[in-house]
Amino acid sequence: ESSSAGQLQVELEAAPALVQLAGRQVSALAYNGSVPGPTLRLRAGDTLKIRLVNNLDQVTNLHLHGLHVSPEGNADNVFVPVEPGRAFDYEYRLPADHPPGVYWYHPHHHGTVADQLFAGLCGAIIVEDPVPVEASAERILVVTDTAVDSAGTISAVSPMERMMGREGGLVLVNGQSNPQFSARPGQRERWRIVNACVARYLRLRLDGQQLQLLGIDFGGPQDPEAVEELLLAPGNRADLLVTAQPGNAVLRAYRYNRGSMPGMMGPGFGQRAPQEVPDSIALATLQVSGEPAAPPAAAVAPQGLGDLRQSVVAAHRQLTMAMGMGMGGFTINGREFDAARTDTVVTAGSVEEWTIVNASPMDHPFHLHVWPMQVIEEGGREAGTPRWRDVVNVPANGRVKVRVAFEDFRGRSVYHCHILDHEDLGMMGVIDVR
Ligand code: C2O
Ligand code: CU
Ligand code: CU
Repeated sequence: ESSSAGQLQVELEAAPALVQLAGRQVSALAYNGSVPGPTLRLRAGDTLKIRLVNNLDQVTNLHLHGLHVSPEGNADNVFVPVEPGRAFDYEYRLPADHPPGVYWYHPHHHGTVADQLFAGLCGAIIVEDPVPVEASAERILVVTDTAVDSAGTISAVSPMERMMGREGGLVLVNGQSNPQFSARPGQRERWRIVNACVARYLRLRLDGQQLQLLGIDFGGPQDPEAVEELLLAPGNRADLLVTAQPGNAVLRAYRYNRGSMPGMMGPGFGQRAPQEVPDSIALATLQVSGEPAAPPAAAVAPQGLGDLRQSVVAAHRQLTMAMGMGMGGFTINGREFDAARTDTVVTAGSVEEWTIVNASPMDHPFHLHVWPMQVIEEGGREAGTPRWRDVVNVPANGRVKVRVAFEDFRGRSVYHCHILDHEDLGMMGVIDVR
């Protein structure tokens, strides 16, 4: 295959739409009439042009989550509002060495990000591998959750649910409830799972199958790692190889305790008592039967992003996420988001080490736009192998150290909690790389 740079032009219309979700007719918000929206397939070096047409009755815009592209002008600029009835022409140039992987897109207009995602606005992006991983099937599983009332409209959420981070009772894969896939014994499939939920963590298992992780968010330089369980915080993606074993296996999301605030009920419990919350939710079923397939060649993980552990660190910073009940609000370093203020100024081309502190009794998934983060220390331990993320979970009262190479692009962008209710409530800061 040739690796020559291409151009992709797409139109995404954000509009109210009647969609089938888990077999029900629901008045949702959708890109091009479907939840999730169309999958965008790109290659490193490509130019992507997206005309976003806003046929909602509210302001929106578009963010390409995880892509290493410019945050300025009409590229991945989250400060641009697209008014109702207007269109905006985005243009993104992927560097020739853009990391392959699964990414996603969603709105990013501060204050309504959680509402618009919960209503259905999201889609997957694939940046193809330069050398494809051999697999009999590639499946993209966009996991969303929402809540629908008896009239078929998306439920509004309470102030309490916003503070906790809303979790909808309807958990879907590609808009379906527990879709069925089939494979033959021995076949190797590639599953690319996007956690597109506003606030729900996905502690995933596919018992009875053989799983190898190629990476979370970005590929790693190490060999595929055998796993039984993996945790995807909101915003994370998994690139997983499934070698089919005979029988039926169910991909399940198990209950994950992400903490709480004193006086609040646990997340996802809604008005229910904890014992009424199911221990796990079936997301999808893999039925494996038929003639065994020839064993596939050993899998080679896509090229990773290198290693910053020996790099010269130009600056150390600490960012502290906190949630004050009533007073203080949802903050990073004591301040709520203000688009007019710049919180962090970074010298272009430098490597920085950030200690991200969680000063609250609830987990917060920390997300930085444009520049990938390498996890250096987590749970008090140094990371043994290079692990790259664009969302890194910071456990309740915990801390995580990351390094970031501020390469290739300059400009203003953001970092924030990817419990998008928290982001909308102010747990977001502005970075300027100059
Ligand atoms: Cu997926 Cu700033 O977001
Ligand atoms: Cu993002
Ligand atoms: Cu948070």
